[in-house]
Amino acid sequence: MAYKLLFVCLGNICRSPAGENIMNHLIKQANLSDQIICDSAGTSSYHIGSSPDSRMSTAAVRRGIPMQGVARQFKPSDFEEFDLILAMDQENYHNILAFDRQGKYRDKVKMMCDYATHHSIKEVPDPYYGGKEGFDRVLDLLLDACRGLLAQIEQKILKTD
Ligand code: 4NP
Repeated sequence: MAYKLLFVCLGNICRSPAGENIMNHLIKQANLSDQIICDSAGTSSYHIGSSPDSRMSTAAVRRGIPMQGVARQFKPSDFEEFDLILAMDQENYHNILAFDRQGKYRDKVKMMCDYATHHSIKEVPDPYYGGKEGFDRVLDLLLDACRGLLAQIEQKILKTD
């Protein structure tokens, strides 16, 4: 059975699709596409059905990472469906856990930045209302965190080394 990751932000058009697509890029490079599956969602309903934000896609494509996906909202059944749920910021984290009244799935929900090894910032900043540099900052952070996350999954879950 594949290990399933869900990346979550507010709108599911900037940070979480970037996390999903970066992670898929790294997974492909590592030849682990059969073993790790990624998806993303937003805590809000604002952008349901939308493609990733064009500013995020442009910044990602410049780094050789094409962005795919259609925005959807986080739903309680995601707690059962996924092995690990990655929140981009504290607000996302609390909004996800608000769906888990009994605290049954608490341990599945983590902060994305906890996996970064070259950045000490604790949250992936929301780039939506800012300039172009905000999108590049998101990509820098997510590349770092996704590399750290993949290394942990390889060691702890897949036990490949
Ligand atoms: P995301 O960015 O949560 O990284 O997808 C945002 C997208 C849309 C909005 C806020 C953040 N919005 O307010 O519409």
